[in-house]
Amino acid sequence: MIASAIDIFCGIGGLSFGLKQAGINVAAGVDVDESCRYPYEKNSQAEFILRDVSNLRGEELNERFWSNDVLKILAGCAPCQPFSAHSNKIRDKTQTRKWWLLREFKRLVGETSPHIVTMENVPNLANQAVFIEFVASLEQSGYCVSYSNVYCPDYGVPQNRRRLVLLASRFGEIYLLPKSHPAGEYATLRQAIGHLPLIEAGEVCKSDPLHRTSKLSPLNLQRIEASRPRGTWLDWSEDLRLKCHRKKTGRTYKAVYGRMAWDEPSPTITTQFYNYGTGRFGHPTQNRALTMREAAILQTFPEDFEFYESEKDISLKRLGAYIGNAVPVELGVVIGESILSHLEVHHGRR
Ligand SMILES: C[S@@+](CC[C@H](N)C(=O)[O-])C[C@H]1O[C@@H](n2cnc3c(N)ncnc32)[C@H](O)[C@@H]1O
Repeated sequence: MIASAIDIFCGIGGLSFGLKQAGINVAAGVDVDESCRYPYEKNSQAEFILRDVSNLRGEELNERFWSNDVLKILAGCAPCQPFSAHSNKIRDKTQTRKWWLLREFKRLVGETSPHIVTMENVPNLANQAVFIEFVASLEQSGYCVSYSNVYCPDYGVPQNRRRLVLLASRFGEIYLLPKSHPAGEYATLRQAIGHLPLIEAGEVCKSDPLHRTSKLSPLNLQRIEASRPRGTWLDWSEDLRLKCHRKKTGRTYKAVYGRMAWDEPSPTITTQFYNYGTGRFGHPTQNRALTMREAAILQTFPEDFEFYESEKDISLKRLGAYIGNAVPVELGVVIGESILSHLEVHHGRR
């Protein structure tokens, strides 16, 4: 039986690409954002289905991609999305409203009965009723389920991202592979991006259009010049500080306007990593925020991953969202390898 994955909420396919690198055939990805089509199809070589997952029926997936002789893997990363007033699907006023798309994931599991399910998300989802309900429903349907809070440097990702990873199988117990990198051997920022050409704030590298970063205002330039790796805005003179930081209540927000340090993993790459003021996204030695290329590498996208069809399609905001929202490719590989090693034991195939 051939294993075949469908990735719902696929984005540009960090997860799909990782599964494919691990050796899993990815049949299709589903997302509402048409702009993800080109990078998704180009890199994962799977069909991109433009669809709101809440309008996707399991029957369609079974008919189009999952014939009876296929081993079905349903993968995805349901985003946290405030429940919109014009949709009538869920009426309760709990956290479930924020995570209603996870219920759509659950519905699709019920409609397709995949052999394997995997889901990636933010760690605090594990405490939400909607996740507990998701796990209970899998168990009631006969799946063995495991989930853990994964610290990405433990798997070689040079970024201190933490993610919840769930694996479920109808064949028997399934777990994520053991950690591959002990503390002390974590991949560092220097190893990941230390080789890239120097560029200034607002500049685009001539040899690599993705190695580009946002402009800095004269005041923010002064601020980053006054910042040191791992330091905070408390290192700055009073005249450089933001009004809100001068107030007592603002003093707790230390992890903004910071510089990263060379010899440790980077902070979590968010969708705003190119914005120096939104986190510790200042380059350790150059006076600027991270470039698109640097963030992509920290998310373990290979350097030949194609993010855009033509240079005119490049927008910091859009690329920032693609990159910051992605499952790190290497984490996708670990998820894929975990599934394959489980199938080898429980299903006699790889
Ligand atoms: C966290 S990102 C997924 C990242 C992706 N797994 C990766 O590794 O690159 C969530 C995606 O869900 C998509 N999305 C949000 N609501 C959706 C819906 N109702 N149906 C389908 N896709 C949706 C967004 O467009 C976004 O690309």
